[in-house]
Amino acid sequence: RVLILDFGSQFTQLIARRVREAGVYSEIHPCNVDPERVKAFKPSALILSGGPSSVLEGGCPELNMEYLEMGIPVLGICYGMQLLAHNLGGRVVASTDREYGRAQFYAQNDSILFDGVEDKDDLTVWMSHGDRVEALPDGFVPMGKSDSIEFAAMGNVEKKIYALQFHPEVAHTTDGSLIIQNFLFKVAGLKATWSMSSFVDTTIEALKEQVGDAKVVLGLSGGIDSTVAAVMLHKAIGKNLHCIFVDNGLLRMGEREEVVGFLAEHFDLNVKMVDASQEFLADLKGVEDPERKRKLIGYKFIEVFDREAKAIEGVKFLGQGTLYPDVIESESFKGPSAVIKSHHNVGGLPEKMNLKLVEPLRELFKDEVRRAAYELGLPEHIIWRQPFPGPGLSIRVIGEVTEERLQILRLADRIVQNEMLASDWYRKVWQGFAVLLPLKTVGVMGDDRTYENVIALRIVDSLDAMTADWSRLPSELLARMSNRIIREVKGVNRVVLDISSKPPSTIEWE
Ligand code: XMP
Repeated sequence: RVLILDFGSQFTQLIARRVREAGVYSEIHPCNVDPERVKAFKPSALILSGGPSSVLEGGCPELNMEYLEMGIPVLGICYGMQLLAHNLGGRVVASTDREYGRAQFYAQNDSILFDGVEDKDDLTVWMSHGDRVEALPDGFVPMGKSDSIEFAAMGNVEKKIYALQFHPEVAHTTDGSLIIQNFLFKVAGLKATWSMSSFVDTTIEALKEQVGDAKVVLGLSGGIDSTVAAVMLHKAIGKNLHCIFVDNGLLRMGEREEVVGFLAEHFDLNVKMVDASQEFLADLKGVEDPERKRKLIGYKFIEVFDREAKAIEGVKFLGQGTLYPDVIESESFKGPSAVIKSHHNVGGLPEKMNLKLVEPLRELFKDEVRRAAYELGLPEHIIWRQPFPGPGLSIRVIGEVTEERLQILRLADRIVQNEMLASDWYRKVWQGFAVLLPLKTVGVMGDDRTYENVIALRIVDSLDAMTADWSRLPSELLARMSNRIIREVKGVNRVVLDISSKPPSTIEWE
């Protein structure tokens, strides 16, 4: 097990990815985590991430020196290297110019870290730093330099403490994964034992242990996360898992049957379908403001779910499909970022319900959840479902949400989904959907003037929804979507394409 201490670098998650890809379990903790938690984790190696601070400035995040006394191998990256140098008696100075981007690195002293790296005498690496190490601490030897810095890597072989000024975790560093693997396997002597199938098995065993013969209630949304969490819990505790699916009236066409029907049928899951659409639509009546819509839907969801859960006797746990990025986000060293949109999933539920939480996916990244879904035997159409927001179609009907406008959007959206599936574009894009605009425009149909609604197509590529760009779909495919929507959906006479990237736009329109 590897512990990664986060000093605020935007790449910290990538370090965890690389370590897990190597088959070693890792967790990220903020650098100011309670030292007792670090000891309880019993790490076999420690990695110190980069970060935006400078060790030369007051108030910079510190390294608890007790960690270096645990006698485990340590790898410091960027700010992590400066911290080690600074704390162990070396000297760090400010560089006149910040080095950012590609650089050449030249390995020295045959360090075990660079074993097998092909171009170690002239390696392309990714740098991002202001300060640099000018004098090494006692016991350290230089292990590489770059064109602008003398000590771009250092190590104390005896104590197994190594440090790199560049970022091995980013893809731009050639053989960066191999360098990390050298640290894990050759320096720390770890074994590659973490795999998805072992993860699934051990998690199911752990769930049995945690829950015993108590009942668990879980909100099934139809998305991959809650689905995988439900299937794992079902394997662990069977009929003691009670799933609740709330139909908020804001779902896409056929969604309820597609997901929930399937799960109940093929996985024998205990699912209660609650049709609360009238309640949600009543709350949304006359509401146009996006944040207000999101909040109302969030409150209503909690109310309905709580009511339904209370109707089941003897529930002790609330199951959730929380993923690792959500966990890190809420514990992040960087603190909360500005609220752009108040995301609604089941936020607020745990506080309200006074149940213990059980979160089988807390340790996984999104693509790892997909791999877990494969292990569990879920079908492709569930594994590859595109993300769908908690507030559903309400944030795609711009302006007031009415049953009639929802129906127009559902019909248009089904055409977008079908055309993407038929052309094999469904899996190539991150998300593709229709948005109904709150305006009418003039058209001509036959000899008659029309005055009808506009549908926008929003189809984007993304890796993690943090940034996105509009997908360059073939124009014939776009033409087919547009023609079919105007021909088949009554009340629409115009289709437009959204060609904005995120940032500065967002993926959803509200
Ligand atoms: P934005 O619009 O912020 O969306 O660029 C980023 C991603 O998040 C999805 N999204 C949500 N997902 N609850 C969710 O579970 C929400 O309230 C929510 N709002 C947006 C959106 O579809 C995109 O994938």
